[in-house]
Amino acid sequence: EQLKGAVTFEHVSFRYPGMSSYVLKDISFHVRPGETVAILGSTGAGKSSILQLIPRLYDPTEGAVYVDGMNLKDIKMDDLRKRIGFTPQESILFSGTVEENLAWGKSDASLSEMKAAAKDAQIHETITDLKDGYETKLGQKGINLSGGQKQRLSVARALIRKPNILILDDSTSALDLQTESKVLDAIDEYKCTLFIVTQKLSTAKRADKIMLIDDGKIIEEGTHDQLMNTSALYREIAYS
Ligand code: GTP
Repeated sequence: EQLKGAVTFEHVSFRYPGMSSYVLKDISFHVRPGETVAILGSTGAGKSSILQLIPRLYDPTEGAVYVDGMNLKDIKMDDLRKRIGFTPQESILFSGTVEENLAWGKSDASLSEMKAAAKDAQIHETITDLKDGYETKLGQKGINLSGGQKQRLSVARALIRKPNILILDDSTSALDLQTESKVLDAIDEYKCTLFIVTQKLSTAKRADKIMLIDDGKIIEEGTHDQLMNTSALYREIAYS
């Protein structure tokens, strides 16, 4: 039971199907239940590739990934979907109402569950200000949301499932510091394990673990204070 939310990578190497070069090279780490992990690194470093292995969008080429203490290969996909909330880099919203888009996270969610998640993701007020509120149509036949609004809606969709593990792949990049901090404060209350790709120092600071990724490898790992002391590269990022 105390492994709920644990994530372990054991010597994981990965190349995309049909490609000859490895994008992840011998990645190992252990994340304890409830920890927040900030993932930093330049574009193409492999951050998204690491995160995609957790909900099993791909399987590692070598090595193994464990979630809740179990090898991913031994967890049924349906079951895995319940444990993990994943918001990809590009928010995926479809032409439908706000409510329908939120319910994609959990088809039997009640309106009050949706509202609670939307409040936590700091998007509830935006929704209630829309002409038809939660019934407002999005996409081609409806209104277009801004990048940051789409991101918050995607986060709400992931929260509805009350996941043990939440993965935000650059899904808060369009939020201002204050809004992001409110969203993260609310996520703290879910007591889930959080992986967050970020470029914001304020987000890295609150993480239990920061992983600096470069060229498919973890090159530095530690808290903000530790890395400020030990990593010239991290200091460079921090001061930039
Ligand atoms: P940003 O999202 O730009 O910040 O980069 P990232 O750190 O998330 O890197 P990512 O994991 O997306 O990419 C690592 C490497 O894998 C890069 O060389 C990409 O070109 C490559 N890559 C990413 N997605 C795919 C894919 O779907 N197919 C293939 N063949 N290569 C991919």
